[in-house]
Amino acid sequence: MNYKEIEEIVKNTISEKRFRHSQGVAKRAVELASIYGEDIETARKIGIVHDIAKEMPRQEALTYAKENGIVFDEIEAKEPGLWHSKLGADIAVKKFGFTPDMVEAIIYHTTGNVNMNTMDKIIYVADKTDETRTIINRKEAVEISNNNLDEGILYIAKFMTEYSLKKDSLIHPDTINLINQLISKKKNGKLKS
Ligand SMILES: [Fe+2]
Ligand SMILES: [Fe+2]
Repeated sequence: MNYKEIEEIVKNTISEKRFRHSQGVAKRAVELASIYGEDIETARKIGIVHDIAKEMPRQEALTYAKENGIVFDEIEAKEPGLWHSKLGADIAVKKFGFTPDMVEAIIYHTTGNVNMNTMDKIIYVADKTDETRTIINRKEAVEISNNNLDEGILYIAKFMTEYSLKKDSLIHPDTINLINQLISKKKNGKLKS
């Protein structure tokens, strides 16, 4: 399926506000893909699709998960805000023909993960620094992530964790492990740019 066809389906699935965010993420993913040498069209497609399941009603989401063999871990089960990552990845495969490689970025886009490859990192960063984002100091986050992708991830993961803690949200262990990994690397002067 080409980008325009995918975009049209996404537009008809989610709210206008979230669609504008998704377009912003696609745009920012393209920007980052060109900086870090990843495939532009792939980045754009993942960006537009990443939140496809975000507005699925809870009961529908649970039924979809059950019917499609999607299992939530202990923390995910308690935080419905995390469900759309695995659900969205499954939809991306079945509806848009995404490859397992492409959907990894959707699976990791909310919590981050120590095993993220460059494309996964691009989508994670694009999701938090697109032009519709207001909760983060966007200018600083963009500057850092355009200069050093791992530095950008660390900045964002720390910010998002503080933000979640203030709201009394649970922190997924994948995010804690990611922050620990990047701080350890930073201490050893090994943060990849
Ligand atoms: Fe999301
Ligand atoms: Fe998003």
